[in-house]
Amino acid sequence: AAVVGGCATATDATGTEPSGAPSGRLHFPPDFGWGAATSAYQIEGAAKEDGRGESVWDTFSRTPGRTRNGDTGDIAADHYHRYAEDLDLMRDLGLRSYRFSISWPRIQADGTGAPNQRGLDFYRRLLDGLHERGIAPMATLFHWDLPQALQDAGGWESRDVAHRFADYADHVFRALGDRVPVWLTVNEPKTVVQNGYLFGHHAPGRRDPDAAYLVAHHLQLAHGLAVRALRDAGGAGRIGPAFNLHPCYPADDSAEAARATRLYDGYENRLYLDSVLRGSYPQDVLADLGPGSRMARGIRDGDLAIISTPVDLLAVQYYTPIYVTADGGTVRRWPTSEAEWQQIHPDGMYDILTRVTRDYGPIPLTVTENGLPTPDSLAADGTVDDSARITFLRDHLAAAHRAIAAGVPLESFHVWSLLDNFEWAEGYVQRWGLVYVDYPTQRRVFKRSAHWYRQVIADNAL
Ligand code: NOJ
Repeated sequence: AAVVGGCATATDATGTEPSGAPSGRLHFPPDFGWGAATSAYQIEGAAKEDGRGESVWDTFSRTPGRTRNGDTGDIAADHYHRYAEDLDLMRDLGLRSYRFSISWPRIQADGTGAPNQRGLDFYRRLLDGLHERGIAPMATLFHWDLPQALQDAGGWESRDVAHRFADYADHVFRALGDRVPVWLTVNEPKTVVQNGYLFGHHAPGRRDPDAAYLVAHHLQLAHGLAVRALRDAGGAGRIGPAFNLHPCYPADDSAEAARATRLYDGYENRLYLDSVLRGSYPQDVLADLGPGSRMARGIRDGDLAIISTPVDLLAVQYYTPIYVTADGGTVRRWPTSEAEWQQIHPDGMYDILTRVTRDYGPIPLTVTENGLPTPDSLAADGTVDDSARITFLRDHLAAAHRAIAAGVPLESFHVWSLLDNFEWAEGYVQRWGLVYVDYPTQRRVFKRSAHWYRQVIADNAL
């Protein structure tokens, strides 16, 4: 049978199979957290309501030429108004876990000072709706929508912004802490570093490598300060960072490619993992940046102790592998998706999960994002056939299952995304949802993948 390892113990020990599930299927551990994920700016809309301030993404997306078709998140999937309907969709899917983010500028319009009660109330209503439906909330504190006022004061290049983030987090912990079992601090710091400050195609649109790695340090510091704020507030919730990890493989078997891959991995993975889980930055990356770099000069005594404040879990987001050539460039090895950066390689999920457990010990893991954009359209009969998404998710879940069987303490898995949404610089063209959003009417339609995922959840098996 395909039931193996840890999962076999779960089913074999009791001798029971989930009802109706034929043997030979891949059974997941009991209580596995089947989930889906979203983020505030990508779905909420209501950009000017209830005291919300502006974020760097409002500024960036409203700047001509920055996003495809000039799309903005002004309306997005209008979730701010339709959250009750969206909660019912989650219930109909059978979700056990829902990962969303809290919009900092809804809580503090300019990033400082007393919290905005109307902003907090929205998330309280959402959290109550989740609890009423038996869905466990997972709240991300920062999914890239930095208050514009803080950007004007230097953004993540300013060390002070890390302290402002801890203050914001403290307000949120005190107001919502009784309702949130799992917190995630910073979503994909690497994407802010690379897309925001190296390549410039995300807000704030900078191309400055020296600034980029100082930003990396301040994002890590912000994470650590938020963990401390939760502990100081006496919060009962668990907390951890959310990293997009990229398994890096040499493109050939030369010694040069192996060496280049090792350094590439430092920038992609160890910079973030080592600082939080080992209390040090990787020496090879620091050496490569050089002692005069703004990052090196920005690290103060005690910072690594803050960054490595013990966390309760690590959130992993996996989309694509990277193949590194001898000269430090990259090549493609697998078919790509509609997102040109994404090569489809399910084994990468197994490799990255097992590697984290091997290198950093048995810290509980959650997959907080994995998914595929597909060219979905609503057929005349009202269906959306996204069979490529089903294949993708099935293969990646099977790889996650293999990792569990190999001893990885993976407790949950969240599909990116629940809904079609604003895909940053790609606007609304790329559709990542299990649920189709017909933007002109804001009607939601379960895609084939949603029906499939509902059955997977019901069976607790693939
Ligand atoms: C990672 C980000 O966290 C999310 O916001 C984005 O939409 C997905 N990747 C897909 O690119």
